[in-house]
Amino acid sequence: MNFDRVIERRGTNCYKWDTRPDVLGIPDDLISMWVADMDFVVADEILDAISERLRHGIFGYTFPADEYFDSIINWWKERYGVDLKREWIIPLTGVIPGMALAIEKFSSKGDGIIIQPPVYWPFRNVIELNDRVVVENDLLENGGEYTMDFDDLDEKAKDSKIMILCSPHNPVGRVWSDEELEELSKIAQKRDLLVISDEIHSDFSFSRRFVSAISIGDLRERVIVLASPNKTFNIPGIRNGYAIIPNEDIREKFQRSVTAHNMKPNIFSIVATQAAYSHGKEWLESVRDYILENFKLVERELNGCCGMKMKIPEGTFLAWIDFRESNLTDPYIEILKKGVWLQDGKVFGKSGKGFLRMNVATPRKILLEALRRIREGLS
Ligand SMILES: Cc1ncc(COP(=O)(O)O)c(C=O)c1O
Repeated sequence: MNFDRVIERRGTNCYKWDTRPDVLGIPDDLISMWVADMDFVVADEILDAISERLRHGIFGYTFPADEYFDSIINWWKERYGVDLKREWIIPLTGVIPGMALAIEKFSSKGDGIIIQPPVYWPFRNVIELNDRVVVENDLLENGGEYTMDFDDLDEKAKDSKIMILCSPHNPVGRVWSDEELEELSKIAQKRDLLVISDEIHSDFSFSRRFVSAISIGDLRERVIVLASPNKTFNIPGIRNGYAIIPNEDIREKFQRSVTAHNMKPNIFSIVATQAAYSHGKEWLESVRDYILENFKLVERELNGCCGMKMKIPEGTFLAWIDFRESNLTDPYIEILKKGVWLQDGKVFGKSGKGFLRMNVATPRKILLEALRRIREGLS
């Protein structure tokens, strides 16, 4: 495991490194830190498992077998102390495809669906492109600390069908506490909301223990958890994910949609998921340590520079940097022109204005160069 190793990703149709923003005056050697995947090679065990399957040479129709389900069940038990039943798990081709199916199945055109901006922008897409209405329950922000606005949630839930919870939250990095989830659960119960809990970032919780929505009493009966080894093990291009649905009625309806769409994970995603969950623990612990050190570097290098503020998040590998007190007119563009591509906070909703998101899951050499360009370029 050598996370310092820099591997050229350009020339691989890589979203992060092979695309460029349409802005004039950006240097050719742009450092890309916007998309949320990692610039690290996956665990050897995943590579070996995929290679072995690849060498078999026949890639016919395949199903996820006991080993696949057991690897997920054991992971959840060991990491979160959660007992999953096999029948609760429904394999998918990704978290967002699962979200789209749930929205189609459990709401109708014109229904309101709650999100908590600033939040991962495809949530908005998946609602609007399905002709549903985005209902914004903005997070409260106080000095860089984010909490949920429960009064507003209660009010908005009156006329909404579904709430999409981002847990841990991308981009603000919150790992929601038991108390917060209990409070949310009460509102969901009172207003009869279905909760879709996107837990894709769960394995990157640092200063607070991750609590799944299915560990919360009443919520368990009205939740569709969407999870995946994608972020955890850096395999999002293999396209995989799964839903966990304890409630039988919700599960059966969701399963009908999955069957209707014939949504099946591909061979390599099944193999990669099994290998990752069964043998990837050590790799994950090392990458988490590396990422934490990267966060400390960003904190040290950027805090105070041109009025920027950054706190190490409770979860995710994404730094949420506050530029509201900086002297920059448009920090996104100004940093781009210095050769670093961060994600503009506005993309995550109006309340993201004045923030930039930086993916720190990259070799230290790349990170240090990006930090140097930002510091020296802007001071
Ligand atoms: C919160 C969140 N959900 C979902 C996804 C994407 O999931 P998938 O690629 O499995 O559809 C991402 C990727 O960045 C994410 O941050």
